[in-house]
Amino acid sequence: MDKKTVLFVDDEPNILSGLKRMLRPMRRAMNFEFAEDGPAALEVMAARKVDVVISDMRMPGMDGATLLATIQEQYPHAIRIMLTGQADDESVLRTVSVAHQFLAKPADPVQLKQVISRATALQDLMADERLKKVVSSIGSLPSLPETYARLQQVLRDPDGSLADVAAVIEQDLAMSAKVLQLVNSAFFGLFRHIESPGRAVNLLGLDTIKALVLGVGVFTDMKAPPSRIFNVKTLWSHSMATAAFAKKIATLESEDRDLIDHAFVAGLLHDVGKLLLLSRMHGEYEQAVRMAMETSCSLLEAEQKIFGLSHGDVGGYLIGLWGLPGPVVESITFHHRLRDYPDPDFGPALIVHVADYISYRLEPGQCIGEQPCLDEEILDRAGMLDKTDQWLELCGELQEKSGDG
Ligand SMILES: [Fe+2]
Ligand SMILES: [Fe+2]
Repeated sequence: MDKKTVLFVDDEPNILSGLKRMLRPMRRAMNFEFAEDGPAALEVMAARKVDVVISDMRMPGMDGATLLATIQEQYPHAIRIMLTGQADDESVLRTVSVAHQFLAKPADPVQLKQVISRATALQDLMADERLKKVVSSIGSLPSLPETYARLQQVLRDPDGSLADVAAVIEQDLAMSAKVLQLVNSAFFGLFRHIESPGRAVNLLGLDTIKALVLGVGVFTDMKAPPSRIFNVKTLWSHSMATAAFAKKIATLESEDRDLIDHAFVAGLLHDVGKLLLLSRMHGEYEQAVRMAMETSCSLLEAEQKIFGLSHGDVGGYLIGLWGLPGPVVESITFHHRLRDYPDPDFGPALIVHVADYISYRLEPGQCIGEQPCLDEEILDRAGMLDKTDQWLELCGELQEKSGDG
């Protein structure tokens, strides 16, 4: 594996020399470059392949937001991380569509090393260079036109409350993913434990959401229904159901709060890769959908044939770049190939795999192509195979209840 290169950009010489000292032990595994301003950083980018850029926000001349936006356009494969101080609140809003992650300044050495290691490990997992570029160039995913319009309306309404805003955002996969990214990062010093998109909206607050949506346009509109053969609304219903079932199964078997939260969020975002491929590789994705509908293969097999990887791989890569917790990222990546997952025990990855299966069992009409099967061997190894009938029954009851309400 090639040695990765990480570029730090900061106009304060003291910070750069502190970073150099802090990173010395990692020099065997990685190359580090340092630049004191935006133009110098772009010179480094032009001269060699840089895998991760970590930039300060406030710099004379070109600020961090402009630098990262330029890098996003010219070097889309690079992972972009923004260092933000408390005083940067206003200006940091402009960076939410260009930075993958936010780190609080001054950087905590342990956290910084962890973020760099995770980011570079993700790049190694994603073998396809073309898709790597596509995924890392993404600032946000497109939202359903009617949900987007509804959100604008609620935010412009003087009587609109935070609860109204949360109710709209919770109805959209792209918006939910974005607010979860923001609360899970050091954006505004939040760095909280995630629970749900609604809770994320509450943490961000009405003013921030307004500034993000109406001011910097963080969410984008799909304009028209993106595809005649792939229904994005159905994808959202399936994602909501999978999240609810994942939470149900996790709560039945465990009292571990982290495990329950991770299972829920991973359930919600597990198929985000489908939305990504549909919006960015439209023609090829429709070809995969058609192949699954017209032949007797699953959508997953069709994706493999056309892209060489699946929606789980690209979705996991995106959510990993956005800095969501490891178990969430891994559950998304491995939900269709549990046997490749290094930890076969009962955990969010296994739960999302089962919840996804149950969701299609209960709503077969939502599935394109052949339904995914349950990996009984892995479930058996985890000592959970005999539980699946009970889970299916309880999830069915849950769905009936939510249908009644
Ligand atoms: Fe899936
Ligand atoms: Fe799914």
